[in-house]
Amino acid sequence: MEQTLSIIKPDAVAKNVVGKILDRFESNGLRVAAMKKIQLSKADAEAFYAVHKERPFFGELVEFMISGPVVVSVLEGENAVAKNRELMGATDPKEAAPGTIRADFAQSIDANAVHGSDSLENAKIEIAFFFSRREIL
Ligand code: CMP
Repeated sequence: MEQTLSIIKPDAVAKNVVGKILDRFESNGLRVAAMKKIQLSKADAEAFYAVHKERPFFGELVEFMISGPVVVSVLEGENAVAKNRELMGATDPKEAAPGTIRADFAQSIDANAVHGSDSLENAKIEIAFFFSRREIL
């Protein structure tokens, strides 16, 4: 059993498709072990995406992630990290396979509907960024 971190990004929250996205997770064997809707501060977004701070898109990524509330969750299940990434589809929605979350709900590489941890190691770090142990059930 693995846990991974999911963020439903400001574009998808604004489009009111939170429930539709959560249904993709639940219908494919993942369980919501923790969840909250929050507004990230600039410092939060910069810290969460610190690994990308030298990339040319960092400023735009941070501005986008603070443009509205996000829904953050811990997803749990067998191979949760890979399963979540499969359900999300490619980072750029133009390259995302049909039927994936990004193909169905995302507009651009920045407004790409969801974030998911890319490895078990990063999942642990990202989960701890948002949730205390007692919030994960
Ligand atoms: P995410 O999975 O949240 O991780 C970093 C984000 O940076 C990524 O999704 C994209 O929304 C955004 N991004 C913008 N431009 C790029 C790019 N050229 N390559 C990768 N990620 C990008």
